[in-house]
Amino acid sequence: MGTLEGKVAFVTGAGSGIGRGIAERFAREGAHVCIADVDVEGAEYSANLVGQLGSRSLVTKTNVASKEQLADAVERCVAEFGRLDISVANAGIGRGGPVLEMALKDWQDQLDINLTGVFLTVQLTARKMVEVGNGGRIICTSSLAAENTAAGTWSYSATKAGVRMMVRGWGQELGPHGITVNAIGPGVIDTPLAAGLAGEEGGAIRKNLEALTPVGRAGQPADIAGLAAFMAGPDGSFMTGAYVLIDGGLRDVRWSGTQSEEIAEEAARHADSAIARRAKLQPLFDDR
Ligand SMILES: NC(=O)c1ccc[n+]([C@@H]2O[C@H](COP(=O)([O-])OP(=O)(O)OC[C@H]3O[C@@H](n4cnc5c(N)ncnc54)[C@H](O)[C@@H]3O)[C@@H](O)[C@H]2O)c1
Repeated sequence: MGTLEGKVAFVTGAGSGIGRGIAERFAREGAHVCIADVDVEGAEYSANLVGQLGSRSLVTKTNVASKEQLADAVERCVAEFGRLDISVANAGIGRGGPVLEMALKDWQDQLDINLTGVFLTVQLTARKMVEVGNGGRIICTSSLAAENTAAGTWSYSATKAGVRMMVRGWGQELGPHGITVNAIGPGVIDTPLAAGLAGEEGGAIRKNLEALTPVGRAGQPADIAGLAAFMAGPDGSFMTGAYVLIDGGLRDVRWSGTQSEEIAEEAARHADSAIARRAKLQPLFDDR
């Protein structure tokens, strides 16, 4: 029997990468999963994976920056499954750029999705949990970028540092309702969002990342999903307001001076999303 048997989880951005990994892991632990994503094709693919693991799912086309769409998705999730135990505010985007050039729209989109989207997801799902009265678990995806930043990535870092701080306040507020709230801080994880940093198996970017990372490999969605399962499961009941870094030791490694021309070229290629699409269609568990 899984650690989340019969529970219901609402996961945003579960149509790809880390969110998909979390949906799969939760399904493997016996939970049913509501998959809320703007990308319906990706969400349907994830739903299929959840089904193959013996759990049920519900897909909603949801933009986390829209309160109406999110509220509708949460209502439909509860209507479908009759309960809501776990909420994962995971959807996010990366819009970097130098301060002298950054477009207001990129700045605003990132705030709307990475900060407002997390706030709305937590507010709407926590209200539902309080209403039902059975407590709950909330997990937000922050980032190693909440602690480290660099030229061109400061705006993304600002949103992720915001998430890291918000969960501390929410942990205080929701603890008395039996709800824990925690943040996960992934390092470089092999997903479409980080294609330019994680590269592909055997490529120059990946080899460089493996050489730099103390544990010697790129992070995978399964790594993050394992931590999410802990936070959502019985062993996580005393953890709240926490931010847990999971980065293979990368935080304390210096990146500067490691960029070669080969890596820069490969990174430029990743900007067109061919590799990203392939990465998206890989299931987490091959042994189902
Ligand atoms: N991959 C990494 O290295 C890494 C590291 C640290 C943190 N993160 C964070 O992890 C989370 C997941 O990222 P990922 O790497 O799996 O990326 P990803 O691009 O593979 O997946 C993100 C998913 O979110 C969805 N999404 C984007 N905007 C949305 C919106 N407005 N409403 C609903 N869904 C939306 C996308 O359609 C996609 O399915 C993000 O918050 C990201 O910032 C990723």
